[in-house]
Amino acid sequence: MAGILVCGAQWGDEGKGRFVDFLAKDADMVIRFQGGNNAGHTVIHAGVTYKLHLIPSGILYGSKPCVIGNGVVVDPGALLEEIDGLEKAGIKTSQLFLSDRAHVLMPYHRALDAMNEESLGKSKIGTTQKGIGPCYTDKTSRLGIRFCDLLDEERFAMLTRQRTAEKNQIITKIYGKAPLDAEAIIAEYRAYAERLKPYITDTSQMVYDAQKSGKTLLFEGAQGMLLDLDYGTYPYVTSSHPTSGGVASGVGIGPAALTEVVGVVKAYTTRVGAGPFTTELSCETGDLIREKGHEYGTTTGRPRRCGWLDLVIVEFAARINGITSIALSRMDTLGGLDRVKICVGYELNGEVIRNYPASLKDLEACKPVYKEFDGWDANLSHIRAFEDLPASAKEYVNFIEEFLGVPVDMIGVGASREECILRKQYV
Ligand code: IMP
Repeated sequence: MAGILVCGAQWGDEGKGRFVDFLAKDADMVIRFQGGNNAGHTVIHAGVTYKLHLIPSGILYGSKPCVIGNGVVVDPGALLEEIDGLEKAGIKTSQLFLSDRAHVLMPYHRALDAMNEESLGKSKIGTTQKGIGPCYTDKTSRLGIRFCDLLDEERFAMLTRQRTAEKNQIITKIYGKAPLDAEAIIAEYRAYAERLKPYITDTSQMVYDAQKSGKTLLFEGAQGMLLDLDYGTYPYVTSSHPTSGGVASGVGIGPAALTEVVGVVKAYTTRVGAGPFTTELSCETGDLIREKGHEYGTTTGRPRRCGWLDLVIVEFAARINGITSIALSRMDTLGGLDRVKICVGYELNGEVIRNYPASLKDLEACKPVYKEFDGWDANLSHIRAFEDLPASAKEYVNFIEEFLGVPVDMIGVGASREECILRKQYV
């Protein structure tokens, strides 16, 4: 029995999708446990590029059960769009299963996300405006609607009328916008319920049964360490737990199910949305990395902010997630620079610290302390063995391993699944 988690060790967009696709080959089940369609996983599978938001990347193999767990918030229209897109491309979705305990993302969640952001003005979070925050807010306020409710026509209609009336008070009286029509929502979602019915089940039991029978489970994280609701750069975070702690509650399985935690680390750092970013490069080098790495959001198309690799963040992620193995992505993107830097500490009030501060005020005052390395300009995409990397690239990787005390077991040298150096067999 193996339970492998792939999680992001920075601000999301680390390139988790390609490693999940790679590991899914030997897994028996692939499971999402948090987030929603704010996530965007780009996967190049058999030469075709897929952009997935809610459905686990394992779906591309056709026959593997793929689970959307109870911890995910699901916009049914967005899910059906994704299902239709895959079916159109010849990918079967009959092995997709959606938790009857997952929360349904409603049109008022999307509306409130946009209105909240607008009202925050300059201090806005920079959300994806998919309604994720308001949907989790309703969940924790015990005002949410779950997929088991969606299947119950009468209960769903009753809950939708109640909730829409409450939200319309906020929408009209606080934000001065037009109210939403509950009856139109009920009709729209009834059609979704009919189509989604075959996918909805008790996924926690399914995962447990698979675990008991010795299957290999692959847990697919969305977003990343510093977007975690508790440990991220609050309030510039998402509303779920992308860290390993989110797996047990987001799937409905005991924590001992995890036998390996793979932290995906980009060879540099990116961030979308607002909030402090200590190693940000607001200069030509940052622009160069953005263009070379096509660093634009999969979900929103927004340009990502780019900066040097920050090991203060990754060490924090290794601790909070219990990372046992690192997958380093985008080594190829950094190629071509004369010199590259890694942040190894922060200077704060005349002291050098290695612990990621909780206070945004402290974080904003932090100055990066760098170690410099020679760059590598060779094209790396054909390399499959660590020994064949240019000496300076090897030095970069070795330094990361030594600093963190965690092995770098996979190294991405290009976008496709094959363009990877594998230093360990996971299953
Ligand atoms: P929300 O999750 O849409 O509420 O957005 C909250 C913050 O998380 C914003 O800074 C978003 O840009 C960020 N975020 C959400 N999903 C992702 C992701 O998949 N990758 C990177 N950033 C994300």
